[in-house]
Amino acid sequence: MSYKTIPKFFLIIILIFIFDSGVMSQQIVQLSINSNAAKNIIDRNIYGHFSEHLGRCIYDGFWVNDSMNIPKKDRIRLDVVEALKKIKIPNLRWPGGCFADEYHWRDGIGPRSQRPKMVNTNWGGVTEDNSFGTNEFLELCSLLNCEPYIAGNVGSGTVEEMAKWVEYLNFDGESPMANLRKQNGHPQPYKVKYWGVGNESWGCGGNMTPEFYSDQYKRYATYARNYPGTPLKRIASGANSADYKWTETMMKNVGASRMWGLSLHYYTVPTGNWRKKGSATAFDEKEYFNTMKNCLYMEELVTKHSAIMDKYDSAKRVALVVDEWGIWTDIEPGTNPGFLYQQNSLRDALIAATTLNIFNNHSDRVRVANLAQTVNVLQALILTQGNKMLLTPTYYVFDLYKIHQDAKFIPVQFESPDYSVGDQKIPALNISASKDSLGAIHISLVNLDPSKNLTIKAALDDNWKTVTGQILTSKNLTDINTFDKPVNVKSTMFNKAKKEGNNLIVELPAQSVVVLELK
Ligand code: AHR
Repeated sequence: MSYKTIPKFFLIIILIFIFDSGVMSQQIVQLSINSNAAKNIIDRNIYGHFSEHLGRCIYDGFWVNDSMNIPKKDRIRLDVVEALKKIKIPNLRWPGGCFADEYHWRDGIGPRSQRPKMVNTNWGGVTEDNSFGTNEFLELCSLLNCEPYIAGNVGSGTVEEMAKWVEYLNFDGESPMANLRKQNGHPQPYKVKYWGVGNESWGCGGNMTPEFYSDQYKRYATYARNYPGTPLKRIASGANSADYKWTETMMKNVGASRMWGLSLHYYTVPTGNWRKKGSATAFDEKEYFNTMKNCLYMEELVTKHSAIMDKYDSAKRVALVVDEWGIWTDIEPGTNPGFLYQQNSLRDALIAATTLNIFNNHSDRVRVANLAQTVNVLQALILTQGNKMLLTPTYYVFDLYKIHQDAKFIPVQFESPDYSVGDQKIPALNISASKDSLGAIHISLVNLDPSKNLTIKAALDDNWKTVTGQILTSKNLTDINTFDKPVNVKSTMFNKAKKEGNNLIVELPAQSVVVLELK
């Protein structure tokens, strides 16, 4: 049958279908990837997480009532632990956030019934019973098999208080604080290496100027001692978003020899307006576009902060520690405004994948990062409801990307097609790649365009025989996992990558994250 014999009406329908399916709009991208140019290691700690005494993250998320009928160790829920172990969580930051600068660690040790209570003034004014304290956090990290990253109190604490916390955690001999730890049931030192000296000292951590904080940092950092076997990785409180003056002042006044890392905090706010951030689940394409534009701003931030650090530290000794990042939306309607509980959609997964690609591509300087926050708060990996638990779309990204942890970074080059809405455009495609210790190459690709598929072609110089992959996508950007439909959005096998000679050809669907393995 010739197309001339097809009734006009059907022809139009077929053309609409072809156009709508993205077939006609497919674009070809040439990717250059030289695995022999593999460079630095992608520090596994880029894949770190953050758990604050905020809303239902610690209480209800990790730490539940004795009476809850669920597998537990002490009061730590083990379903959450198992899920995080599966993605190889490398480190967990605690106890805040803003909470850290009001937290007095001695209130959270010893017999629980005797611990004083406090008001969590930052987050909802709720009563904190201090049942989850230092020993409980270290027990959680040991179950997770991850590094603890503790943020000390500079804002309302003292140099002595922080110094004693380090002694309590890390000293192996006979001393007042080591004895106290032994008395609390832990004879061996915990050997906590990652140590934050304050949090957001420009804001909730004390509203300091960078000049004042840089002097304070030196006082606190001096007396937070390196006990035998545990040299500290001291991390200074860093800039808020594009506050380049903060980074400049810290690098100039403190310098590369006195800090291991300098932090950076940046959140993706869909509308860019902190008073009306936008919904986590109801947004149109324009708002999605703005969100992704705001997410991609991380590339500029990391580049510019790194360039300032390079001026003072060309050897890149000081790590850029992005210890708070992620999407921050309006709260789920009906929940406590101080608890920052938000749902998590395919859009969040695209944000996570894009941001992790940015970090991988800057892994010469970015060596720690922490998504905010692990359970039930902001861009969570896990949501809980009583004894139920679900994995969010963001969780699956960390599952797919775990192959980059401690692998060798491979630089890639390509020209991204534009994704345009109205008269604005952003790059549709972002990619990062690495080679693991067994020689397997992993490529993570993100297509932000919600309607155009992309064809990627890469000529690889390496010896490889097979390509396999996994994909995370869904019909709608707003798709989420709920307690009724907990695996609505999840990763599945990907079969649209093939080997033709030494060429890799990938058909990358719209609004998707794909991770390939070449062996
Ligand atoms: O992650 C929530 C809050 O955001 C943290 O407590 C604070 O550091 C930041 O402003």
